[in-house]
Amino acid sequence: MRYAHITGWGKYVPERIMSNDDISKLVDTTDAWIRERTGIGERHVAGVDDTTASLSINAAIAALDGAGLVGAQIDLVIVATSTPEHFFPSTASIVQDALGASHAGAFDLSAACSGFVYALSLGADAIKAGSASAVLVIGAETMSRVTNWKDRNTCVLFGDGAGAVVLQASDRPGGVLSTMLRSDGSGSELLIVPAGGSKMPITPDVLAQDLQCIQMNGREVFRFATRAIDRSLREVVHRAGWTLQQLDLIVPHQANIRIIEAAARSLGIPMERFFCNVQRYGNTSAASIPIALTEAVANGRLRANDRVAMVGFGAGLTWAAAAVEWSEGRALSRSKRTISRIGYGLANMRSRARRIYRRAEDRIFGVEQPERTPAPIRQLPAKPQPNGNGHPVLPPSGASNGKIASHTASQPKLEP
Ligand code: UT7
Repeated sequence: MRYAHITGWGKYVPERIMSNDDISKLVDTTDAWIRERTGIGERHVAGVDDTTASLSINAAIAALDGAGLVGAQIDLVIVATSTPEHFFPSTASIVQDALGASHAGAFDLSAACSGFVYALSLGADAIKAGSASAVLVIGAETMSRVTNWKDRNTCVLFGDGAGAVVLQASDRPGGVLSTMLRSDGSGSELLIVPAGGSKMPITPDVLAQDLQCIQMNGREVFRFATRAIDRSLREVVHRAGWTLQQLDLIVPHQANIRIIEAAARSLGIPMERFFCNVQRYGNTSAASIPIALTEAVANGRLRANDRVAMVGFGAGLTWAAAAVEWSEGRALSRSKRTISRIGYGLANMRSRARRIYRRAEDRIFGVEQPERTPAPIRQLPAKPQPNGNGHPVLPPSGASNGKIASHTASQPKLEP
């Protein structure tokens, strides 16, 4: 029988830190309110050069080092994120390329704050099914790029960062023993970025109303979250054949310390067995659990053979949990680490070379172009017609003279 062990872990957060006092200069709030209602003291915020892929790559390298692997040994890269680099290509493909993971498949997974546990479950299943032997699972977010810095209900909550784990196949029992994934789309409007997708393309009107930013019904999400932690932990622990009392550590999604306290009360588990670092990072969505796992190991709170449960919850609504018997890391030796750094440099050169080659191939060998036939002339409306929701409707395919609002309106320049 094959088991999926977590053999490497790592995190990366942007350098820039925003304190509660910094935020109180932007909106009507106070450090005392934020600490009392959320437990958050500060969060890391992406600089201009930080992107979801760059955070992911740094976290992934740390996790690969910890597992004693290099990118070329990875079979699958999954990036759980709600703030991807682009609609497409996937952030995972950019990460795969940067790591020189030239034999790996790569895709993004969207399940908001539950995304990391969803991705861990899929990665473990791929290993157990025999379709992969080493999987890189990343949770990464640049929430600051979809934060409305004028909305005190949400801007105090979120932060940026990335965490990653490496899953490896083994015959030895342990690793990811059980998972559960759930969704209830009837609550989709409770936590949402309304615009920027196919339903509501970005228009000047949309930007004027900040609909490209996070909106949340905090009280409803709070109620849902405490129930979700309770139910999913009980289920996943039962499926692993454990009891709640046998858990050495619980790593919940870091959204609000009060949510974790309420869940601890309802489960009858002391807070000391929950890992919390929301104080320093805020809610980093899909990144929060792998960042917390990495810190839990670094702080001696999580050791080999410990029974750990992790639980995510968030937009969708989605929730998910996993029960894991923790494994030893297999750190790279110094010399192997040097070789791996050279390998990442070579991956970068290889990527550039492939781009140049692709262009040269077109020029030198001549790529056969599809024969151009004149497009049929159609009568198009001079302006896009609004549909029932007031969104512009695309004219028939191939049209370009009916002006359609661009999807690529730039982010408002916010200098928090
Ligand atoms: O990761 C996905 C999951 N997300 C979550 O889990 C978030 C879940 N929700 C929460 O964590 C909490 O509901 C919040 C932290 C968002 C809000 O805390 P709350 O205790 O539920 O506050 P509230 O929404 O009930 O608001 C209480 C008051 C309101 O004023 P009034 O209407 O009572 O006069 C708010 O306007 O606090 C006000 N308020 C603020 N005051 C100062 C809301 N945000 C702020 C703020 N500073 N930043």
